[in-house]
Amino acid sequence: MTTTFQPRPQSRPEPARIDGVVTYDAITVTPESPHIGAEIGGVDLTQPLSDRQVEQLRAAFTQYQVIFFRDQHISFDDQIRLANYFGTLGEHAGKATISKPTENPAVRKFHYDENSQLISGENFHSDQSCAPIPPLGTILYNHTVPPNGGGDTQFSNMYAAYDALSPRMKVYLEGLTATHDGTRVFGPGTPVAVHPVVIRHPESGRKALYVNTDFTAHINDLPRLEADRLLAFLIDHCVNPQWTVRFRWHAHSIAFWDNRCVQHQAIWDYWPNVRSGFRVQIEGTAAPVAG
Ligand code: SIN
Repeated sequence: MTTTFQPRPQSRPEPARIDGVVTYDAITVTPESPHIGAEIGGVDLTQPLSDRQVEQLRAAFTQYQVIFFRDQHISFDDQIRLANYFGTLGEHAGKATISKPTENPAVRKFHYDENSQLISGENFHSDQSCAPIPPLGTILYNHTVPPNGGGDTQFSNMYAAYDALSPRMKVYLEGLTATHDGTRVFGPGTPVAVHPVVIRHPESGRKALYVNTDFTAHINDLPRLEADRLLAFLIDHCVNPQWTVRFRWHAHSIAFWDNRCVQHQAIWDYWPNVRSGFRVQIEGTAAPVAG
């Protein structure tokens, strides 16, 4: 009997590649999974970076979608300087009740302990996708982590999620939009925005799925039942473990993710222990464009 090998179509999307960068010689870049995430070394974020380091950091961010740093004892100024290499600092839209303000309006405190009732980001989401121009990226620094592990953050690659759809589904999604409703997460007064279901990343040029559990209320342009079933399928599909990476925090680690092609989820498995740090957001420069 002969067996014909049939590769699973689209199940192994190529990782994002960018033109023009073949070697990193001013920083080190160590991939953390086949599809998403890399640890950056050879930088001291308490000091200004060289132009070459910044250029390569930007390239690594585009290529790997979420970048990680270890052993960085950074101040607010250091965190803001890192953010400013990528854009302008943004403020959190809506009345976030879980994270807390700090003396700097651009920096929010993400602190959880035995008194916490909730933490931010327990569902996979893209930050503030309810905003007309959602944030480009987010930088979370944790100086304190639970003593026995736990509190990992998971990241999922929305290029790979798109690439793995069937050709028929890709055609079906073309031109569809979805409503992202911030009041579902942050309550009244938070923005509601309509974005394409498939967007094109402004730097990589790649197509990415852009719906998420927290903010996406419904897909527009379709009968309600069909829209609801489609959204449920896409949301499950977006977080298939095949294209995720799980980041294990150590004290003084940093995760810096691209909200235009990544969803993330915080795992609260460490109560009553403490996990504590600070987060900044980088403003987006334009509304998401259809892919
Ligand atoms: C978030 O930004 O949603 C929280 C991520 C985390 O705390 O790991």
